[in-house]
Amino acid sequence: MKVLIVGSGGREHAIAWKVAQSPKVDKIYCAPGNAGIEQVAECVPIGAMEFDKLAAFAKDNAIDLTVIGMDDPLVGGIVDVFEAEGLRVFGPRKNAAILEGSKAFSKDLMKKYNIPTAAYENFSSAQEALEYLETAKMPIVLKADGLALGKGVLICNTLEEAKAGVKELMLDKHFGNAGNTIVIEEFMTGREVSVLSFVDGDTIKIMTSAQDHKRAKDGDQGLNTGGMGTFSPSPFYTKEVDEFCQKYIYQPTVDAMKAEGRPFKGIIFFGLMLTADGPKVLEYNARFGDPETQVVLPRMKNDIVDVFEACVDGTLDQIELDFEDNAAVCVVLASDGYPEHYEKGYPIEGLERFENQDGYYVFHAGTKKADNMFVTNGGRVLGVTAKGADLKQARANAYAATEWIQFANKYKRNDIGKAIDEA
Ligand code: AMP
Ligand code: GLY
Repeated sequence: MKVLIVGSGGREHAIAWKVAQSPKVDKIYCAPGNAGIEQVAECVPIGAMEFDKLAAFAKDNAIDLTVIGMDDPLVGGIVDVFEAEGLRVFGPRKNAAILEGSKAFSKDLMKKYNIPTAAYENFSSAQEALEYLETAKMPIVLKADGLALGKGVLICNTLEEAKAGVKELMLDKHFGNAGNTIVIEEFMTGREVSVLSFVDGDTIKIMTSAQDHKRAKDGDQGLNTGGMGTFSPSPFYTKEVDEFCQKYIYQPTVDAMKAEGRPFKGIIFFGLMLTADGPKVLEYNARFGDPETQVVLPRMKNDIVDVFEACVDGTLDQIELDFEDNAAVCVVLASDGYPEHYEKGYPIEGLERFENQDGYYVFHAGTKKADNMFVTNGGRVLGVTAKGADLKQARANAYAATEWIQFANKYKRNDIGKAIDEA
């Protein structure tokens, strides 16, 4: 089989690595890919938003299955373009990817189908949003409706901050049209858990749980980033939590999408908060998480291509997902200054130490090849993942492995997985 993966980050490197384990697969392409992905796939210089070029490439090269990693092309309708060409593709159509593409849509869906989430109102008029805030309880959360690189969420402690937030999102348009509509929602407290699932339109199968660290600095300080590290499983995701979510969140979401005439096939990533009133949905994503994928897929025992195909074919009920009874931790090695200003182009040393080291992985996010050497080429440079018998061991292994790698301006958080100690 020939497989094409669309995307270029650490998540796509992890997907490509996992696809490469499948005995069914002879050839993997990745568009546009990155220098690390090049080790397991042939990278093709077509952008993730160039749908027609990607579909033409898939046709010309007799690709058997295309897997979309990123949110933008999914929300933009890449799956519809591929399907119209008769190509097999894993991911939700545009009318289902809206689950991630519009927060107003997803909130209305949850309300209509009684799926637990924070109380909220949607606004497309800044004037009305500002009036509503006058009597609202603080802190409060403002969310740009559309995709904003995970940065369109503002947590406001005072009325002044909230008003400034409305101005930023709706009037100054910091996130462009993503802020034409905003969701204003109740502030919740509790532990956050990410749960990834495979969905075939009817059936949903949960992978394992994980937790992300979104802030740039230790102690959850600093700016929001794409994710500075993850661990899996979450010790807070207990059997009781799972039973509750299976009953009130996971299948109800899939059934709701079907009932709305928007059957969802692909990955649903549930961003959950475990509140005192039970688990509630913070957000939905319509794709694998980054860097959740870098801790979830190394623990997965199934041939992932079988699972992708079962989702496409609607036969997921015949698949039993199987995960190793261990743990994994991923620590992101970033360029100092990320997510603001940082420099690129520094040589990276030590990557070869990961070759043939069972249970240790280095997934590339922002690297490129220059003069036959890997150099830094982004804010998030590498994700170093290690497995261990339990979370503490995995964390110790992952941090030890971060020392194998050297590059100028290397930056990491030192407390990835610290929450484990409180479990
Ligand atoms: P989202 O992109 O919707 O997951 O929001 C990004 C982050 O903002 C989440 O991971 C939470 O840490 C925080 N957040 C979002 N919604 C709320 C809420 N209603 N209450 C408290 N924190 C929130
Ligand atoms: N790690 C969060 C995300 O992928 O959205």
